Amino acid sequence: MEETRRLPVHVSIIMDGNGRWAKERGKERVYGHFEGVESVRACTEAAVETGVKYLSLFAFSEENWGRPDQEVNTLMELMFKSMQNELPTFLKNDIRFVVLGNRARLSDKLNAGIDDLMARTASCSRLTLIVFLSYSGKWDILQAARKMAEAGADDLEPFLVTAGFPDPDFIIRTSGEQRLSNFLLWQGAYSEFYFTDILWPDFRKDAFREALAEYARRDRRYGKVK
Ligand code: FPP
Repeated sequence: MEETRRLPVHVSIIMDGNGRWAKERGKERVYGHFEGVESVRACTEAAVETGVKYLSLFAFSEENWGRPDQEVNTLMELMFKSMQNELPTFLKNDIRFVVLGNRARLSDKLNAGIDDLMARTASCSRLTLIVFLSYSGKWDILQAARKMAEAGADDLEPFLVTAGFPDPDFIIRTSGEQRLSNFLLWQGAYSEFYFTDILWPDFRKDAFREALAEYARRDRRYGKVK
């Protein structure tokens, strides 16, 4: 197979291990999140460089609301600031920015910032960067099922928040944990999984490229024989 055909169209990452990374250094957990933003930047650049069309990141789960207020607030503030800071980079590199999740739980300020960034980058097409915020797979399926019933429809997929975006070909999880943690339950039905011990703040360009190399070696059959 040609190399280009072995490149995943959509890479999705469960960014894990920020807290442990900080703890190893005797610092507060939030310090790991700050450093994690650098990995977001590095992987976004690597996605553009390698030709991946969709990069999605599990930044905050519905379950994460249960963390201490101080950590939740810092994370939300970090999302807001990072988004504002990255606008010039997104426009320069033709990156479309999208946030998916239960946005009703986000603050008005954050939602306004998200809407603004999504509108300003709406026509960018080199890479679509999807940030999952206040997202969980079960929540997504439930809200889609409600809408499907209301519409009297018989296909769930058009009602998932990911409608219109391709399913992830490749789901990466950092920090040694080997589970899906209520992420893309429906959309990940045929995804290839990749687990690495590297903690998210250390997952930079080389690690991203190494993961893609592993993907290229996989044989995807979608339940069929080849
Ligand atoms: C998991 O590590 C990481 C998170 C819950 C937050 C990830 C968010 C960012 C890095 C900010 C992203 C910013 C943008 C703009 C997308 P953990 O805290 O669960 O670590 P632990 O398992 O070691 O405790």
